[in-house]
Amino acid sequence: MKINKNFLDLEESYLFSTVNKKTREFAAAHPEADIIKLSIGDVTRPLCPAVIDAMHKAVDEMADEKTFRGYPPEQGYDFVRQAILEHDYLNRGIELKLDEIFLSDGAKSDCGNIGDIFATDNTVAICDPVYPVYIDTNIMNGRKDKIIILPCSAETNFLPELPAPGSAVPDIIYLCFPNNPTGTVASKEYLKKWVDYANANHSLILYDSAYEAFITDGKYPKSIYEIEEAKSCAIELRSFSKTAGFTGLRCGYTVVPHDLVFDGTELNKLWFRRQSTKFNGVSYITQKAAEAVYSIEGQKQIQDNLSFYRENAKIIFEGVKAAGFKAFGGEYSPYVWLKIPEGFTSWSFFDELLEKCNVVGTPGSGFGKMGEGYLRLTGFGSRERTLEAVERIKKTFSK
Ligand code: MLT
Repeated sequence: MKINKNFLDLEESYLFSTVNKKTREFAAAHPEADIIKLSIGDVTRPLCPAVIDAMHKAVDEMADEKTFRGYPPEQGYDFVRQAILEHDYLNRGIELKLDEIFLSDGAKSDCGNIGDIFATDNTVAICDPVYPVYIDTNIMNGRKDKIIILPCSAETNFLPELPAPGSAVPDIIYLCFPNNPTGTVASKEYLKKWVDYANANHSLILYDSAYEAFITDGKYPKSIYEIEEAKSCAIELRSFSKTAGFTGLRCGYTVVPHDLVFDGTELNKLWFRRQSTKFNGVSYITQKAAEAVYSIEGQKQIQDNLSFYRENAKIIFEGVKAAGFKAFGGEYSPYVWLKIPEGFTSWSFFDELLEKCNVVGTPGSGFGKMGEGYLRLTGFGSRERTLEAVERIKKTFSK
């Protein structure tokens, strides 16, 4: 028996596991410390009442032989996919079909699993800094030497530049906007350049828009399909985690348009084959919860929560600026990307913040080499703890 040696090419542990371990060790050594976690982007507001009501009803249906449900349809029930289709696409002028939407247990799984349907010798362009799942899952699939890093720095507002003419053309391009970790948003004009590039080179864009709900300005696209001709070059990954607080419930979806044809084969067919073989669907109760997000009350209630998190991000952004830090993001994103003071590395500043303020952030270098010198804070905490964290930061670091 041999192991998949690609796993040995990974960092010892997943970024957020390392952050948690260090936090636990600090807590054990300092039992008196009142630690505030602004590290992983995990929500803290309870699920909204419309979602809870729908789940209660679904539980009752499961208790009755006449309404009980077993395995769900492979791509998800029509009722939820229809709601997604209408609300997230048709009503926004984007033509898609029901069978182009695949419900799943979240965008993290999908963005990791989608690699199954691509050849291992594809080259893959990935931004740096980046959500570590893109890199790690490509390494697991044996594409370690196929990764082309797209460096993102403050000079370009953390937007990756297109590969220079004459340089290697990536087969697959990962893009994420609003961006995790930098909080940057992309304009339609900017994304159009990537769509044109991908179509011209027959590359595939994997567009992660898990944070689209944070966009409040119509000039920024929520979906890659707002860009003309994106359906022939892009898969879109979406999540209910940040939109509706489903981090613990688990639901997301992936859009694979029929227009995506590579090697004479529709990717939609391959993804259907992959999902129907390796995944048995999202529970009925969760699908009912997801449907309720699109009800009139559900929409109002999730917007209240989203405004709450946006306000937290604003409090962090303004607070760290007042403490003398340079900061990015925090406007159409729950994340604030903080430039750390000279003399620190991302990890040594993580320690400093933990020791001096008892606040946990995520070291920028955990998102890639270009993240060195930065630290990410999240707006998903409670208001009280966010305000407290910002006060401690201001007290400690203001000159
Ligand atoms: C993050 O903190 O980057 C996210 O919560 C991770 C995730 O969505 O899996």
